[in-house]
Amino acid sequence: TPPENFYEAVGGYETFHKIVARFYEEVAADPVLRPMYPEEDLGPAEERFRLFLMQYWGGPHTYSDTRGHPRLRMRHGPFVIGPVERDAWLRCMKVGVDSVDLSPEHRQQLWAYLEMAANSMMNAWV
Ligand code: HEM
Repeated sequence: TPPENFYEAVGGYETFHKIVARFYEEVAADPVLRPMYPEEDLGPAEERFRLFLMQYWGGPHTYSDTRGHPRLRMRHGPFVIGPVERDAWLRCMKVGVDSVDLSPEHRQQLWAYLEMAANSMMNAWV
């Protein structure tokens, strides 16, 4: 678990909003990821992911207040996530993370988590 003040230290809502908005711009144009999203409007998915990340890094608990326990592996069960999907997701995420100005330490901490989380979401190996 991250330090309680990571969310504030990196700039709070504004920073997380920018990372996730940029990530979803990439998803919208990604031939592997875009078809996986059940809804035509990516807005609600963007909001859920933003709220989750904010909460994980010590921000407001709105995610759990509205969605309950994250149980992310279970929630990703309906989607086939193999190496190709994971790599596409991390590529989009890197564009998002690169769109904000983080200290090398904060960036490294955030990226290590995202890589670990993306690997742990895999449920297929082809
Ligand atoms: C939801 C794909 C990794 C967090 C979703 C959805 C898809 C998806 C298609 C459904 C969109 C929606 O309606 O909300 C993927 C793929 C991944 C991946 C292909 C590749 C590894 C991750 C990781 C995290 C994450 C690493 C966390 C760090 C979430 C959250 C939701 C979500 C919070 C919404 C859950 C809810 O319903 O409350 N993901 N995801 N995903 N994903 Fe991922």
